[in-house]
Amino acid sequence: MGSAAPKVSFGTANQIEVLIALEPFLRQQTAAHLERRKLWFPNDLSPADEQEGEQDAGELARVREAARGLPDPVRVALALNLLTEEGLPHFHRLIATHMGNESPWSDWNNLWTAEEDRHGCVLRDYVRDARLFNMGALERMQYRYIEAGFNPDWQQDPYRLLAYTSLQERATQMAHANTGRSCSQYEPKIQRILAHISGDESRHYAFYRAVFGEVLRNDTAVALNSLLKVMPALAMPGHNITDYDHMSDVVRRAEIYGPRHYQQIVEELLEFWNIGGLTGLPAEGAAAQEKLMKIPARLQRMADYLDAKAAAERTFRFDFVYDRPITI
Ligand SMILES: [Fe+2]
Ligand SMILES: [Fe+2]
Repeated sequence: MGSAAPKVSFGTANQIEVLIALEPFLRQQTAAHLERRKLWFPNDLSPADEQEGEQDAGELARVREAARGLPDPVRVALALNLLTEEGLPHFHRLIATHMGNESPWSDWNNLWTAEEDRHGCVLRDYVRDARLFNMGALERMQYRYIEAGFNPDWQQDPYRLLAYTSLQERATQMAHANTGRSCSQYEPKIQRILAHISGDESRHYAFYRAVFGEVLRNDTAVALNSLLKVMPALAMPGHNITDYDHMSDVVRRAEIYGPRHYQQIVEELLEFWNIGGLTGLPAEGAAAQEKLMKIPARLQRMADYLDAKAAAERTFRFDFVYDRPITI
């Protein structure tokens, strides 16, 4: 516990002013989000009612049988997606502490959290129903993951939060969609579940990138510098857990999600926000713009390097899949 007085809101006085001026836009985007979304519930996809139909019981047996065929790298991807979703308490806290808890932002944060909460629930329901893991080992890992906390070094900058969520929503959208595709030939139900989740993520992505775009319009040079602090590498809760790194490596080698996907996301957002086309910037804005435009090439070099290294197979073992060797 620090001895400093608690902070009610983060950001500089000017940033807070920009964010307050943004409130009508925020309300409008929230309304547009509610308009677009189709609310679904885990029980729609994996029914667990007292009064179950005969069909539900048969479906459970079918899923469990078919899921035996899921290859271990796909199981690792599912475990990683599940952990990422279960990091929700930290993400909720970061939004609350960076955007304030007594503003339209808290309405958005609560709405967003309610939507996200279903993702961890429905994935957990599935992996439990399908008997995909050594569940106790997975639960211990989830415990460590959440217990490790997540405090990215954002220097109390609310713009970094908005840049981060834009990137992160698209990254999870891709990871879920690609994992679903890798599962479909073995067990189609999980693809359906992942499609529901990735549909949510793409709407969240549309929301955050629109809001950060508005911040960019209103406070361009400062926003560019915030973006530059976040974009080169996307930190995740749990990045300090050894197994987590190895899981990311397996998922990258399985071509489900890795630096090439992240590069694509970065390029997409630089283009969407027209970062390269911004003109008339003050010196510190122009310097950030130049560095931002160099990120894709750097990510590509990193991806090339990792791919060259991955040309040699490597064997991984995870206790949540009974330490079976995964050579990939
Ligand atoms: Fe999610
Ligand atoms: Fe999301």
